Amino acid sequence: MSKVRVLFVCLGNICRSPMAEAVFAHKVEQAGLAEKIEIDSAGTGSWHTGEPAHHGTLEVLAKNKITRTHAARTITKSDLNYYDYILTMDEDNFRAVKYLGKSTAMIARFLDYAPSVGMREVPDPWFDGKFDRVYDMVDRAAEGLLKAILVDHFDG
Ligand code: 4NP
Repeated sequence: MSKVRVLFVCLGNICRSPMAEAVFAHKVEQAGLAEKIEIDSAGTGSWHTGEPAHHGTLEVLAKNKITRTHAARTITKSDLNYYDYILTMDEDNFRAVKYLGKSTAMIARFLDYAPSVGMREVPDPWFDGKFDRVYDMVDRAAEGLLKAILVDHFDG
């Protein structure tokens, strides 16, 4: 079976989507599926290409004992047919991904996997510095996404 491929998308690819990538990868590893699920993140904007994750993201990840190396990149058209799941952090990202072109991926709003959060968009901590709140949302959505992928691809 080929790997299940998952891409997280935000605007700058330094705050939210690298956090989602790292948290999800951590859960995938704990579930023993690291060899079966390929995970990356990308931004719809290119200002931060090559940069590591924002220190706010790195801090909250470190607090939760999660590490992952990162170099920001911009989403490309080829991502649209390489990944099985593309999870966007907010409505602008969702529209930008849709606008890029046709895709074979399941493109969804990441927070749709955490209905208990009661929000559809992950607020951008680049603007308000609230990385802890974002972590909580991302953690819950990552849990929901993993459950959905287990059901869809790994017999539950
Ligand atoms: P992110 O946050 O989309 O969660 O990575 C942002 C990072 C940088 C900028 C905007 C949002 N920026 O305008 O440079």
